[in-house]
Amino acid sequence: RTREARHMKIAVAGAGVVGLASAAGFAELGHTAICVDIDKEKIASLQRGVVPYYEPGLQELTLRNMAAGRMRFGTGIHEIPADTEVVIMAVGTPSDPDGDLSLTAFWAAADELADWIEKCACPAVVVAVKSTVPVGTADSLEEKLRMRLPPSESGRVDTASVPEFMREGSAVKDFFEPARLIIGSASAQTAERLTSLHAGLPGRVIFTDRRSAELSKLAANAFLAVKISFSNEVAVLCEQIGADYNDVAGVLGSDPRIGPHFLGAGLGFGGSCLPKDTRALVRFAERSGAPQTLVEAAIHVNRQRTERIAHKLEEALDNPGASTIALLGLAFKAGTDDMREAPSVRLMEELMRRFPGMELRAYDPASTEAARGIVPGQVRICRSAEEALRGADGAILVTEWPEFGKIRAIDFRNWMKRPIIWDGRNLLDADELNAHGVRCIGTGRPI
Ligand code: UGA
Repeated sequence: RTREARHMKIAVAGAGVVGLASAAGFAELGHTAICVDIDKEKIASLQRGVVPYYEPGLQELTLRNMAAGRMRFGTGIHEIPADTEVVIMAVGTPSDPDGDLSLTAFWAAADELADWIEKCACPAVVVAVKSTVPVGTADSLEEKLRMRLPPSESGRVDTASVPEFMREGSAVKDFFEPARLIIGSASAQTAERLTSLHAGLPGRVIFTDRRSAELSKLAANAFLAVKISFSNEVAVLCEQIGADYNDVAGVLGSDPRIGPHFLGAGLGFGGSCLPKDTRALVRFAERSGAPQTLVEAAIHVNRQRTERIAHKLEEALDNPGASTIALLGLAFKAGTDDMREAPSVRLMEELMRRFPGMELRAYDPASTEAARGIVPGQVRICRSAEEALRGADGAILVTEWPEFGKIRAIDFRNWMKRPIIWDGRNLLDADELNAHGVRCIGTGRPI
């Protein structure tokens, strides 16, 4: 199959990180993109050239392509031009109360898309699903869209699955340097068109059917979750027997069959993807008669992470209920302001439940505003690490923001009442701190 660049008119439904980074990324490759979202405030902000969330490089990429006339925004699918060749579905699919992926926004957008296709008489359009969806969704979408067209015209629309693997905080980099591109389609012409769309991006293209592409996305996130939970359980074992998880992870990661990534022990995985996709896979697999017991176990282990920290606090503090504890890092990981399913929130709830009376303060370099209203009301949100640490009886490093690594032993000693740090991500130089009078308790390390 060719990978010749042919510039096309495309549309992206959904202006979240995935939708916007994809629209701006494809515009940068030379395509003309319209990005639509029903959130009028978000679109108004984007039309002014302001990306309303923290995502490194996305603002510049968006502005540059708007200025070049290759990118614009709209408040609905009805604004998509009739000569658009590819529509990318990138609307959010959050968890529903049962743990399945909620397709409410997805099908609402699909309804609008059906109206658009019916009315605009565009000669041939490919609808490529980038949202993380249950297996079979691209098939159902195609049926839904084709039903709206006279039988002789049903071939005007085809669907495909093009799952996205970008991470928050490095979405732009991940768009331009994908590890691989997945094109799941049932038609050679569709695969060809999507190959041209991605021309210019490095990485191997894997062609597959739609269902395999959809499952690959859920399986990839589930595998990452399993890897993290495995690391966290081995880290607990290290703590119990006096081994050093950093060394163990170094040995594991240097085997190319295992690989060095996602072996980082910590407070567990959070965010808008790994927790919800693992839940969804478990439920979907159970219904399909193929339970995913490893993934279930990974979810279970993840829930235990905050209990483990609470236990470590109990061991080190005389009276945890009368202590003031500072949390460094609130968002679900460093480099983002996203509070969705943040381990910090689970940790705060656990500490408050277990040690009534404990005073909690918290600081995050990016998510001070996002955290308000999400973290429990009793927690004081601070404007600097210093403010959180001043007078504290202990501190928990929750995420690995580089600025936390720059806090010196003398600062911890001067600011804190009792300089004791539980380093949830092994970011700090524990030996250096311990040598300078700061007790640093790492994760998976000898105490
Ligand atoms: C994740 C996947 O990494 C992306 O490939 C995928 O596209 C995305 O979900 C999605 O489905 O949209 P993201 O949620 O942005 O990306 O965050 P990750 O960088 O994967 O981190 C997830 C969680 O795992 C974080 O809480 C992080 O702190 C934790 N983590 C990660 C660890 O505890 N240890 C590690 O070694 C790595």
